[in-house]
Amino acid sequence: MKFFVDSADVDAIRELNELGMVDGVTTNPSLILKSGRDILEVTREICEMIEGPVSAEVVATEAEAMVAEGRRLAAIAPNIAVKVPLTWDGLKACRVLTGEGHMVNVTLCFSPNQALLAAKAGATFISPFIGRLDDINLDGMDLIADIREIYDNYDFRTEILAASIRSVNHMTEAARIGADIATAPPSVIRKMVEHPLTDKGLAAFLSDWEKTGQKIA
Ligand code: G3P
Repeated sequence: MKFFVDSADVDAIRELNELGMVDGVTTNPSLILKSGRDILEVTREICEMIEGPVSAEVVATEAEAMVAEGRRLAAIAPNIAVKVPLTWDGLKACRVLTGEGHMVNVTLCFSPNQALLAAKAGATFISPFIGRLDDINLDGMDLIADIREIYDNYDFRTEILAASIRSVNHMTEAARIGADIATAPPSVIRKMVEHPLTDKGLAAFLSDWEKTGQKIA
């Protein structure tokens, strides 16, 4: 499973990238707001740092305007994936932008049918939002499983990019189901390494090693 970082925080992305854990980045208007940065400037900086796809989202709601914004965003760097919402206009824009050779991430997906439409529109990535379904007492992982089954039935090439990930359990479940990619906040990715038995075991090894009086020269 590829790891994307769901953030526009350049320092946080850099830290994870240095750990070799970044296959791509996703941003959205809320994350741009949180960064306090200009969208074109911060996106360019991220694209220079990360080799993989960097999603940048359009804010127009009408297809033609989405395409214009998408072209502007795609001009930032060759690794831009233009993010469009899962509406008919978004799907139309997806078809045009992928036809021009751009990567497109269709976002705000909450149903298997929406994912089916995105695949038929030629989306490079589909972004089902797990956490937001959990928020309304549904099971976001069921959606990932349904999309996996549907895409596999017809050999759709669109990659499943599990999004709105809020916990380390979401990461495990997305991997078990076979999501192609999970995009998660830096804090979730960092937490994945934690286990109390690892800490306890390491402390015991170090304490015993101290008693040997040896050094690894
Ligand atoms: O990848 C989409 C993500 O940024 C949304 O996450 O936690 O706002 O639902 P959240």
